[in-house]
Amino acid sequence: MLNTRQKVLRNFWYATLPIDALKEGPQPFRLLGEDIVLFLARDGEPAALEDRCRHRTAKLSKGWLTDGRIVCGYHGWEYDRSGRLTRIPQFPPEQAVPEACVQAFHARERYGYVWVCLGEPLIDIPDLPQEGDPTFRRIHQFDERWSCSALRMMENSFDNSHFSFVHKSTFGDIEQPKPERYELNETDYGFVAETIVPVKNPPQAHRVTGTTEPWTRRKMRNAWYMPFCRTMDMEYPSGLRHVIFNSATPIDDGSIRLVQVLFRNDREEDCSTEELRAWDRAIIEEDREVLESTDPDAIVDMSRKLEMHMPSDRPGMLMRQRLNALLEAHGEHEVPS
Ligand code: FES
Ligand SMILES: [Fe+2]
Repeated sequence: MLNTRQKVLRNFWYATLPIDALKEGPQPFRLLGEDIVLFLARDGEPAALEDRCRHRTAKLSKGWLTDGRIVCGYHGWEYDRSGRLTRIPQFPPEQAVPEACVQAFHARERYGYVWVCLGEPLIDIPDLPQEGDPTFRRIHQFDERWSCSALRMMENSFDNSHFSFVHKSTFGDIEQPKPERYELNETDYGFVAETIVPVKNPPQAHRVTGTTEPWTRRKMRNAWYMPFCRTMDMEYPSGLRHVIFNSATPIDDGSIRLVQVLFRNDREEDCSTEELRAWDRAIIEEDREVLESTDPDAIVDMSRKLEMHMPSDRPGMLMRQRLNALLEAHGEHEVPS
């Protein structure tokens, strides 16, 4: 799917940069092929504007902030959070500033990130029940650029037949390629997929899983939030919950900003942030290796119809059906499947 051609995708929220990154000043970001600038307005709330000055087209992200307004670094024109031009420093004080503005976009802080919607939001930012729950701690894991499409990342998130192969060096068992079946339930925002998966438990995972047994199992309750967010909620027999949230934020057609946040119902002394990051990093690198080799816009061909015979691909098929329905409802073309 070529995201930048599907205009309806502009009507969803996407996680962009950690809000703390804006404390250093305005930051550039590319979302769905659109260059935007993110900054903190005077009240500390995030703002997002088109990254292009109305004067001689310099990028506003090259500028700086004065009293929560963004100052173009080329000739000092100033804009407020709504994109309105508020000052031309070359004008004498008695001369009125002409009516002009750059485009402004919706911006909000959630889960430590700045979320942006370029159009009018069709659904809200995913509501994660672990946020604010005192039994859980939130751990920022990473946000980084991947050379893969957002849809490929989402399909992979619900494809449990890749565990035995892609993750054979961490938790997967290549001797057991037959995946467990998912129970799928559609929701307004996407679907929930539940299953129980046996997993290897090497020593570096013992404190992550809460057991020293060589094998354990994960009760998984994973949610897809249209179009490109998911949670992977893993519960171990020890009672530990390891809930990973991802936003596969589309930079353009073939690259994403992958945001990963972890919620755990234990304490730092039970399993350190460093250990958790190291374990999840080893796993996500395995995914990255293969996902960056995929085609961002595969066309329909007979070989991909084989998916119909692989129950583990049902979530991916349902995902494309739901996205196709969304596109059709907005008069757009189908997602290739
Ligand atoms: S280009 Fe921005 S002030 Fe001139
Ligand atoms: Fe994976």
